[in-house]
Amino acid sequence: MTDPVQDRLDFAIALAVQAGHMAASMRAGLGRPDAKSPIDFCTEADRAVERLVTEQVRTRFGDAVIGEEYGGASADSVWVVDPIDGTNEYIHGTKRWCVSLAYVRGGMIEAGIIYAPVDDRLYAARRGDVAFLNGRRMGVSRLAHGSVPVIEAGWSDRVPIADYAALLQRLEALGFEFRRHGSGALALAEVAAGLNDGYVELHMNAWDALAGLLLAHEAGGVVNDFLADDGLTKGNLVVACTPEIGDRLMEAARWRS
Ligand code: IPD
Ligand code: CA
Repeated sequence: MTDPVQDRLDFAIALAVQAGHMAASMRAGLGRPDAKSPIDFCTEADRAVERLVTEQVRTRFGDAVIGEEYGGASADSVWVVDPIDGTNEYIHGTKRWCVSLAYVRGGMIEAGIIYAPVDDRLYAARRGDVAFLNGRRMGVSRLAHGSVPVIEAGWSDRVPIADYAALLQRLEALGFEFRRHGSGALALAEVAAGLNDGYVELHMNAWDALAGLLLAHEAGGVVNDFLADDGLTKGNLVVACTPEIGDRLMEAARWRS
């Protein structure tokens, strides 16, 4: 019996690794990046990786693709692709960037793959199954560290900076420690791996969020319903965390609504 989701997951794992290595190999020869906003940039590597992924997926499965750089239309069977998440980190030469691939069918995130080439970390999950980091089962922190919960709080200029500042104040008031590292997809994968306790961002696009949200959920975390209210095309709030702090983090994130 063929298993269409497993076929796609297996394929996407190999593709994410290939795509990550391609981006890494292009890093040294990059020209000036193009500015999409004062803090949002695109490099030739972003475009080349998205073209690679789109071509491979269409050739192999004939599925639709929505990508950060070239867009695309939704369909019942669609891949949502961020060729490089953390583009500013990539440009600056840090290791905090990744390739993020999600497969959505019938309105459900069926598979999520995130590959961070510099650390050679491959995160993968299938809906209703376990989540893996480099082939080993991973799980959310459950606050087993016994320390203060650490939340990564993402920000882009799609959200007023005053709202972000208010979010940080809410986090502090609710007893959280916080940070921002520049790749929302990677931060969500790190929730799944128990390397931080939660992630919150007031607006993320689907290509940044979907793979990481599935990873966090299948690793035992709580996540918000990103695809509600047309999140696939419009983006949405993102909350993902270890269950012990779910109510508190949702409270911090939803104070505006
Ligand atoms: C951005 C990063 C950032 C997040 C932004 C995203 P990009 O994606 O994930 O951490 O806070 O919302 O737009 O531009 O690096 O692919
Ligand atoms: Ca990107």
